[in-house]
Amino acid sequence: MPTLNWIGKEAVVKHHKEVPFRLLEPVPELSCEKVGAGETASNSTSGNLIVQGDNLHALKALLPRYAGQVKCIYIDPPYNTGNEGWVYNDNVNSPEIRRWLGEVVGKEGETLDRHDRWLSMMYPRLVLLRQFLRDDGVILMSIDGNEHRFAELLLDEIFGSTNRVETLIWKKSYGGGAKSKQVVNLHEYVLCFARNKEKVGVIELPPSDELKRYYKFQDDKVSTRGPYRLQPLATNSMDARPNLRYAISFDGEEIWPEKQWQWSKERTLAALSANELVIKKVRGKWSVNYKQYLRDDDGEERGSKLYSIIESIYTQQGTNELKAMFGDGKTFDFPKPPALVKKFVQAFTHPDSIILDSFAGSGTTGHAVIAANAEDGGNRRFILVEMDDNIARNVTAERVKRVATGYTNAKGITVQGLGGGFQFCRLSAEPLFTAEGQIRSDVTFAQLAEFVWFAETGSGYTSQGDSPLLGVHDGRGIYLLYNGILKDKSIAGGNVLTGPVFDVLPKFADPKVIYAAANRMGGRAAREGITFKQTPYALEV
Ligand SMILES: C[S@@+](CC[C@H](N)C(=O)[O-])C[C@H]1O[C@@H](n2cnc3c(N)ncnc32)[C@H](O)[C@@H]1O
Repeated sequence: MPTLNWIGKEAVVKHHKEVPFRLLEPVPELSCEKVGAGETASNSTSGNLIVQGDNLHALKALLPRYAGQVKCIYIDPPYNTGNEGWVYNDNVNSPEIRRWLGEVVGKEGETLDRHDRWLSMMYPRLVLLRQFLRDDGVILMSIDGNEHRFAELLLDEIFGSTNRVETLIWKKSYGGGAKSKQVVNLHEYVLCFARNKEKVGVIELPPSDELKRYYKFQDDKVSTRGPYRLQPLATNSMDARPNLRYAISFDGEEIWPEKQWQWSKERTLAALSANELVIKKVRGKWSVNYKQYLRDDDGEERGSKLYSIIESIYTQQGTNELKAMFGDGKTFDFPKPPALVKKFVQAFTHPDSIILDSFAGSGTTGHAVIAANAEDGGNRRFILVEMDDNIARNVTAERVKRVATGYTNAKGITVQGLGGGFQFCRLSAEPLFTAEGQIRSDVTFAQLAEFVWFAETGSGYTSQGDSPLLGVHDGRGIYLLYNGILKDKSIAGGNVLTGPVFDVLPKFADPKVIYAAANRMGGRAAREGITFKQTPYALEV
């Protein structure tokens, strides 16, 4: 299989492991919901997060809470056009990479290693992003011709080429190009890969109004299956499937298809007896149609397919919408149109899914998630990460706040809020562990609980973290004694596993893993089925 190589690859393939774990620090004054004094990010009432910080560090900080939980990642990273002023700034310990630091990446031909820098920047972030996805999760990456060919191979390598779902073509503008000397470029790409393509299932958009218009007939099933339309049962398909060629007995006659039917005989007979076939003689010839209901057997509306070419949504719409909201076309260059991202949200997520965008820019993904929820009553949540402090505060957060709570637009028209909110967080300056490997003294029980759970299970911790029994994973009870969870903060007290401490822990009959500062239970620990792990030394992730 072809592989992709570039300057610096060796130095970045394991870089995600060297990035320290930081903590998320809520900023109530920039949040758009009520978070009481002393509460942490996990108390967010909407469940939505906007994190200001470099996504390499932010993703590492978010992993203990969200690993394996995200249904859809949408990212729109720098395209490496040579006009974005982007700089490679990761702290990778390699001479060939360190000389790039602080230098703006130039245009094609100006900076000869520009593609190497982009790939070195993307690699560790994509490795981390993959860990956030659920088994049925997908990642979508917007990209244009500058890096498309490399990005596709990079995703092949990290996600596996068998997990490539599709490369979507987004026709982003309708024309123009008067100044273009050669081919007029009207499109870009959205690369779609799955964590495990087998698990992704059907990808469908909600039925469009245009599609619904075809469903104009009703029968006695209308209350559960909705209206129906007629579709021919015969097919012109040429594949030789002898079991699809049979006679339907009707009105004392045998009806044969010209080529074959679409369904097996069994299925057709079942439909006939359930009054789901419409058979008529038209000008002496039998026509056989089946009723295609708007809703399936489970009452779900039949969706429309997502096509690989996306038309009728243009870049200009994104620019116009932001301009209408902020009254200034210069708020953010080339935001994606919310309708585009909403299409992905609707096609790839469920009403309770989590959506992650780690290059959030103007917050289009947050806007799209709120809009999708408002349309179908869903409760999807989003996580947005934006590195630029000014953008994160004044554009990302401000825009999502306006969409959620309503605003008066540039023309003085009041726009109703669509609901929702978010908690704004920054990353702690100091990592969770000190340079000596000790846990920072201000780390709370809930924060360490997330981390212990992730270290032990590889999955995100979704509980509240207010019991020493964090939960059960693969038949083992996972416990943490830390920071006076048993109301005893003395060093030799509640953080140390002793017989009396064990006796007051919540009971779990099967094997137990207990994280604590020390173990003074002697031989009883083994008899009780305890595997002891000493904090912080056992917490290497
Ligand atoms: C192309 S824009 C995204 C636009 C966005 N999709 C929208 O519709 O507004 C890329 C964004 O990623 C941000 N960014 C670049 N590098 C980043 C990093 N390492 N961590 C977090 N954000 C980053 C940039 O500041 C910029 O706002």
